[in-house]
Amino acid sequence: MIMQRGGKLREKMTDNNYQQYLSDCLKQQNSNIQQHSLPNGETVWVRRSDAHHGIWIYRLMGIFTTLLKADALKPVPSLGGQMAIQNEAKTLQRLSSSGIIVPKLLAVCDDGLMMTDLTDSQTLRETLSQSKDKLSDWQRGVVAIAELHNKKQYVSQCFSRNMISFNDGRIGFIDFEDAPEKVLTLKQCQIRDWLCFLFSTATYIDDNQQAVRLFHQALGNNADAVIGNIYCNTRFLMWAKRLRHRRWGRDPLRIAALMRFVEQLYKYR
Ligand SMILES: Nc1ncnc2c1ncn2[C@@H]1O[C@H](COP(=O)(O)OP(=O)(O)O)[C@@H](O)[C@H]1O
Ligand SMILES: [Mg+2]
Repeated sequence: MIMQRGGKLREKMTDNNYQQYLSDCLKQQNSNIQQHSLPNGETVWVRRSDAHHGIWIYRLMGIFTTLLKADALKPVPSLGGQMAIQNEAKTLQRLSSSGIIVPKLLAVCDDGLMMTDLTDSQTLRETLSQSKDKLSDWQRGVVAIAELHNKKQYVSQCFSRNMISFNDGRIGFIDFEDAPEKVLTLKQCQIRDWLCFLFSTATYIDDNQQAVRLFHQALGNNADAVIGNIYCNTRFLMWAKRLRHRRWGRDPLRIAALMRFVEQLYKYR
Protein backbone atom coordinates (compact mmCIF):
# COMPACT_ATOMS: atom_id res chain seq x y z
CA MET A 1 0.00 0.00 0.00
CA ILE A 2 1.21 3.53 -0.66
CA MET A 3 -0.03 6.90 0.61
CA GLN A 4 -1.84 9.09 -1.95
CA ARG A 5 -2.15 12.88 -1.81
CA GLY A 6 -4.93 13.74 0.66
CA GLY A 7 -3.92 10.88 2.93
CA LYS A 8 -5.98 8.16 1.24
CA LEU A 9 -4.43 4.72 1.21
CA ARG A 10 -3.87 3.48 -2.29
CA GLU A 11 -3.07 -0.04 -3.36
CA LYS A 12 0.28 -0.39 -5.13
CA MET A 13 -0.61 -1.95 -8.44
CA THR A 14 1.19 -5.03 -9.69
CA ASP A 15 0.97 -6.70 -13.09
CA ASN A 16 -1.29 -9.32 -11.48
CA ASN A 17 -3.71 -6.64 -10.30
CA TYR A 18 -3.94 -5.18 -13.79
CA GLN A 19 -4.50 -8.66 -15.23
CA GLN A 20 -7.36 -9.23 -12.77
CA TYR A 21 -8.85 -5.78 -13.44
CA LEU A 22 -8.65 -6.41 -17.17
CA SER A 23 -10.79 -9.52 -16.88
CA ASP A 24 -13.25 -7.64 -14.59
CA CYS A 25 -13.48 -4.70 -17.00
CA LEU A 26 -14.01 -6.99 -19.99
CA LYS A 27 -17.03 -8.52 -18.26
CA GLN A 28 -18.65 -5.08 -17.85
CA GLN A 29 -17.61 -3.61 -21.16
CA ASN A 30 -20.22 -3.10 -23.86
CA SER A 31 -18.19 -1.43 -26.58
CA ASN A 32 -14.97 -2.17 -28.41
CA ILE A 33 -12.95 0.51 -26.62
CA GLN A 34 -13.93 2.00 -23.28
CA GLN A 35 -12.51 4.09 -20.45
CA HIS A 36 -12.60 2.63 -16.91
CA SER A 37 -11.77 3.90 -13.41
CA LEU A 38 -9.90 1.30 -11.40
CA PRO A 39 -10.53 0.93 -7.64
CA ASN A 40 -7.21 2.75 -6.98
CA GLY A 41 -8.52 5.80 -8.83
CA GLU A 42 -6.46 5.25 -11.96
CA THR A 43 -8.12 5.88 -15.34
CA VAL A 44 -7.37 3.29 -18.00
CA TRP A 45 -8.64 2.27 -21.46
CA VAL A 46 -9.66 -1.28 -22.33
CA ARG A 47 -9.97 -2.63 -25.84
CA ARG A 48 -12.06 -5.73 -26.27
CA SER A 49 -11.43 -8.04 -29.21
CA ASP A 50 -14.29 -7.85 -31.68
CA ALA A 51 -15.54 -10.30 -34.30
CA HIS A 52 -13.29 -11.43 -37.12
CA HIS A 53 -13.76 -9.34 -40.25
CA GLY A 54 -13.99 -10.77 -43.77
CA ILE A 55 -11.03 -10.65 -46.12
CA TRP A 56 -12.54 -10.68 -49.65
CA ILE A 57 -13.07 -6.90 -49.77
CA TYR A 58 -9.35 -6.38 -49.07
CA ARG A 59 -8.40 -8.74 -51.89
CA LEU A 60 -10.65 -6.83 -54.28
CA MET A 61 -9.21 -3.46 -53.20
CA GLY A 62 -5.71 -4.93 -53.57
CA ILE A 63 -6.36 -5.58 -57.26
CA PHE A 64 -7.42 -1.95 -57.80
CA THR A 65 -4.44 -0.44 -56.01
CA THR A 66 -2.03 -2.67 -57.98
CA LEU A 67 -3.61 -1.53 -61.24
CA LEU A 68 -3.31 2.09 -60.10
CA LYS A 69 0.33 1.65 -59.00
CA ALA A 70 -0.68 3.01 -55.57
CA ASP A 71 1.30 0.47 -53.59
CA ALA A 72 1.13 2.28 -50.24
CA LEU A 73 -2.67 2.19 -50.50
CA LYS A 74 -2.70 -1.59 -50.74
CA PRO A 75 -5.39 -2.54 -48.21
CA VAL A 76 -4.13 -3.70 -44.85
CA PRO A 77 -6.51 -6.42 -43.64
CA SER A 78 -8.12 -5.40 -40.37
CA LEU A 79 -8.97 -8.89 -39.21
CA GLY A 80 -10.28 -8.09 -35.73
CA GLY A 81 -10.37 -10.78 -33.05
CA GLN A 82 -7.36 -11.93 -31.02
CA MET A 83 -4.98 -11.08 -33.86
CA ALA A 84 -5.89 -7.39 -33.59
CA ILE A 85 -5.29 -7.42 -29.82
CA GLN A 86 -1.90 -9.07 -30.28
CA ASN A 87 -0.98 -6.54 -32.99
CA GLU A 88 -1.90 -3.65 -30.73
CA ALA A 89 0.04 -5.05 -27.74
CA LYS A 90 3.15 -5.61 -29.91
CA THR A 91 2.90 -2.19 -31.53
CA LEU A 92 2.51 -0.38 -28.18
CA GLN A 93 5.73 -2.05 -27.02
CA ARG A 94 7.58 -1.48 -30.29
CA LEU A 95 6.76 2.25 -30.37
CA SER A 96 7.34 2.91 -26.69
CA SER A 97 10.74 1.24 -26.82
CA SER A 98 11.63 3.72 -29.60
CA GLY A 99 10.69 6.64 -27.37
CA ILE A 100 7.42 7.45 -29.18
CA ILE A 101 4.53 8.64 -27.00
CA VAL A 102 1.89 5.89 -26.83
CA PRO A 103 -0.23 4.54 -23.96
CA LYS A 104 1.61 2.13 -21.66
CA LEU A 105 0.43 -1.46 -21.99
CA LEU A 106 -0.79 -2.61 -18.53
CA ALA A 107 -2.25 -6.06 -19.22
CA VAL A 108 -3.22 -8.23 -22.16
CA CYS A 109 -5.24 -11.45 -22.59
CA ASP A 110 -6.87 -13.23 -25.55
CA ASP A 111 -10.04 -11.13 -25.26
CA GLY A 112 -8.59 -7.68 -24.77
CA LEU A 113 -5.95 -5.34 -23.44
CA MET A 114 -5.64 -2.55 -20.88
CA MET A 115 -3.54 0.59 -21.36
CA THR A 116 -2.92 3.88 -19.61
CA ASP A 117 -4.95 7.00 -20.33
CA LEU A 118 -3.08 9.69 -22.24
CA THR A 119 -4.35 12.36 -19.87
CA ASP A 120 -4.17 16.12 -20.19
CA SER A 121 -4.85 15.78 -23.88
CA GLN A 122 -7.31 15.66 -26.74
CA THR A 123 -7.08 14.18 -30.22
CA LEU A 124 -5.28 16.24 -32.84
CA ARG A 125 -8.55 16.31 -34.80
CA GLU A 126 -10.25 18.05 -31.85
CA THR A 127 -7.32 20.44 -31.49
CA LEU A 128 -7.35 21.29 -35.19
CA SER A 129 -11.08 21.89 -35.28
CA GLN A 130 -10.90 24.36 -32.35
CA SER A 131 -7.49 25.90 -32.93
CA LYS A 132 -6.86 29.57 -33.75
CA ASP A 133 -3.46 28.68 -35.20
CA LYS A 134 -4.25 25.56 -37.21
CA LEU A 135 -1.05 25.64 -39.22
CA SER A 136 1.18 25.43 -36.17
CA ASP A 137 -0.90 22.58 -34.68
CA TRP A 138 -0.71 20.82 -38.06
CA GLN A 139 3.05 21.39 -38.08
CA ARG A 140 3.33 19.63 -34.68
CA GLY A 141 1.72 16.58 -36.28
CA VAL A 142 4.08 16.70 -39.29
CA VAL A 143 7.15 16.99 -37.06
CA ALA A 144 6.01 14.09 -34.83
CA ILE A 145 5.49 11.80 -37.84
CA ALA A 146 8.83 12.82 -39.41
CA GLU A 147 10.57 12.05 -36.10
CA LEU A 148 9.02 8.63 -35.74
CA HIS A 149 9.90 7.80 -39.35
CA ASN A 150 13.51 8.87 -38.70
CA LYS A 151 13.52 6.17 -36.02
CA LYS A 152 12.47 3.65 -38.71
CA GLN A 153 8.99 3.34 -37.19
CA TYR A 154 5.43 3.65 -38.59
CA VAL A 155 1.97 3.67 -37.03
CA SER A 156 -0.50 2.59 -39.72
CA GLN A 157 -3.79 4.42 -39.00
CA CYS A 158 -2.14 7.81 -38.75
CA PHE A 159 -5.37 9.85 -38.90
CA SER A 160 -5.66 12.99 -36.77
CA ARG A 161 -8.35 11.22 -34.68
CA ASN A 162 -5.69 8.67 -33.67
CA MET A 163 -3.09 11.29 -32.75
CA ILE A 164 -3.10 12.79 -29.29
CA SER A 165 -2.24 16.44 -28.83
CA PHE A 166 -0.87 17.36 -25.39
CA ASN A 167 -1.23 20.82 -23.88
CA ASP A 168 2.57 21.13 -23.72
CA GLY A 169 2.87 20.66 -27.49
CA ARG A 170 3.87 16.98 -27.64
CA ILE A 171 2.07 14.52 -29.92
CA GLY A 172 1.21 10.90 -29.05
CA PHE A 173 -0.36 8.07 -31.05
CA ILE A 174 -3.12 5.49 -30.39
CA ASP A 175 -5.13 2.75 -32.16
CA PHE A 176 -2.87 -0.01 -33.45
CA GLU A 177 -5.10 -2.96 -34.35
CA ASP A 178 -3.71 -3.33 -37.90
CA ALA A 179 -0.35 -4.80 -38.81
CA PRO A 180 0.53 -3.04 -42.10
CA GLU A 181 4.03 -4.59 -42.09
CA LYS A 182 2.36 -7.89 -43.03
CA VAL A 183 1.56 -6.55 -46.50
CA LEU A 184 3.70 -3.43 -46.91
CA THR A 185 7.42 -2.59 -46.80
CA LEU A 186 8.69 -0.09 -44.20
CA LYS A 187 8.79 2.63 -46.88
CA GLN A 188 5.21 1.88 -47.93
CA CYS A 189 4.05 1.87 -44.28
CA GLN A 190 5.56 5.32 -43.83
CA ILE A 191 3.98 6.70 -47.01
CA ARG A 192 0.67 5.27 -45.78
CA ASP A 193 1.17 7.24 -42.54
CA TRP A 194 1.59 10.45 -44.54
CA LEU A 195 -1.45 9.70 -46.71
CA CYS A 196 -3.66 9.05 -43.64
CA PHE A 197 -2.37 12.18 -41.92
CA LEU A 198 -2.74 14.45 -44.95
CA PHE A 199 -6.16 13.03 -45.84
CA SER A 200 -7.44 13.72 -42.32
CA THR A 201 -5.90 17.19 -41.96
CA ALA A 202 -5.76 18.85 -45.42
CA THR A 203 -9.17 20.50 -44.98
CA TYR A 204 -7.79 22.44 -41.99
CA ILE A 205 -4.99 24.08 -43.99
CA ASP A 206 -5.84 27.48 -45.41
CA ASP A 207 -2.43 28.39 -46.69
CA ASN A 208 -1.07 25.51 -48.79
CA GLN A 209 2.15 27.33 -49.69
CA GLN A 210 3.08 27.94 -46.08
CA ALA A 211 2.19 24.30 -45.25
CA VAL A 212 4.41 23.07 -48.12
CA ARG A 213 7.30 25.10 -46.66
CA LEU A 214 6.73 23.61 -43.18
CA PHE A 215 6.54 20.11 -44.66
CA HIS A 216 9.93 20.57 -46.37
CA GLN A 217 11.39 22.00 -43.18
CA ALA A 218 10.23 18.97 -41.12
CA LEU A 219 11.39 16.33 -43.61
CA GLY A 220 14.75 17.88 -44.52
CA ASN A 221 16.73 15.77 -46.97
CA ASN A 222 13.98 13.15 -47.18
CA ALA A 223 11.37 15.63 -48.43
CA ASP A 224 11.84 15.11 -52.19
CA ALA A 225 11.71 11.31 -52.03
CA VAL A 226 8.67 11.29 -49.71
CA ILE A 227 6.82 13.86 -51.84
CA GLY A 228 7.55 11.82 -55.00
CA ASN A 229 6.05 8.76 -53.33
CA ILE A 230 3.01 10.62 -52.02
CA TYR A 231 2.40 11.93 -55.53
CA CYS A 232 2.80 8.49 -57.17
CA ASN A 233 0.31 6.94 -54.77
CA THR A 234 -2.36 9.60 -55.21
CA ARG A 235 -2.08 11.02 -58.74
CA PHE A 236 -4.97 8.82 -59.94
CA LEU A 237 -7.16 11.04 -57.72
CA MET A 238 -5.92 14.38 -59.12
CA TRP A 239 -9.23 14.93 -60.97
CA ALA A 240 -10.90 15.30 -57.55
CA LYS A 241 -9.03 18.51 -56.69
CA ARG A 242 -11.81 20.58 -58.29
CA LEU A 243 -14.53 19.35 -55.95
CA ARG A 244 -15.54 22.18 -53.64
CA HIS A 245 -19.30 22.07 -53.23
CA ARG A 246 -20.71 20.82 -49.91
CA ARG A 247 -23.09 18.45 -51.67
CA TRP A 248 -20.13 16.12 -52.39
CA GLY A 249 -19.98 15.16 -48.71
CA ARG A 250 -17.14 15.05 -46.23
CA ASP A 251 -14.81 12.34 -47.58
CA PRO A 252 -14.78 13.50 -51.23
CA LEU A 253 -14.07 17.05 -50.00
CA ARG A 254 -11.20 15.70 -47.88
CA ILE A 255 -9.78 13.98 -50.94
CA ALA A 256 -10.18 17.23 -52.90
CA ALA A 257 -8.27 19.19 -50.22
CA LEU A 258 -5.63 16.44 -50.08
CA MET A 259 -5.10 16.58 -53.84
CA ARG A 260 -4.84 20.39 -53.90
CA PHE A 261 -2.15 20.08 -51.25
CA VAL A 262 -0.35 17.20 -53.01
CA GLU A 263 -0.31 19.22 -56.23
CA GLN A 264 1.40 22.12 -54.44
CA LEU A 265 3.82 19.78 -52.68
CA TYR A 266 4.82 18.21 -55.97
CA LYS A 267 5.17 21.57 -57.75
CA TYR A 268 7.52 22.98 -55.09
CA ARG A 269 9.74 19.93 -54.64
N1 LIG B 1 -5.14 5.34 -24.18
C1 LIG B 1 -5.97 6.32 -24.49
N2 LIG B 1 -5.82 7.55 -23.93
C2 LIG B 1 -6.69 8.56 -24.22
N3 LIG B 1 -7.71 8.43 -25.08
C3 LIG B 1 -7.92 7.24 -25.67
C4 LIG B 1 -7.06 6.12 -25.42
N4 LIG B 1 -7.51 5.07 -26.13
C5 LIG B 1 -8.59 5.49 -26.80
N5 LIG B 1 -8.86 6.80 -26.54
C6 LIG B 1 -10.01 7.59 -27.04
O1 LIG B 1 -10.97 6.70 -27.61
C7 LIG B 1 -11.15 6.97 -29.00
C8 LIG B 1 -11.29 5.64 -29.76
O2 LIG B 1 -10.12 4.84 -29.54
P1 LIG B 1 -9.33 4.12 -30.74
O3 LIG B 1 -8.19 3.35 -30.15
O4 LIG B 1 -8.97 5.13 -31.76
O5 LIG B 1 -10.42 3.09 -31.24
P2 LIG B 1 -11.20 2.88 -32.63
O6 LIG B 1 -10.65 1.59 -33.14
O7 LIG B 1 -12.63 2.83 -32.22
O8 LIG B 1 -10.89 4.04 -33.54
C9 LIG B 1 -9.93 7.79 -29.40
O9 LIG B 1 -10.21 8.66 -30.47
C10 LIG B 1 -9.60 8.56 -28.13
O10 LIG B 1 -10.43 9.70 -28.03
MG1 LIG C 1 -9.34 5.36 -33.81
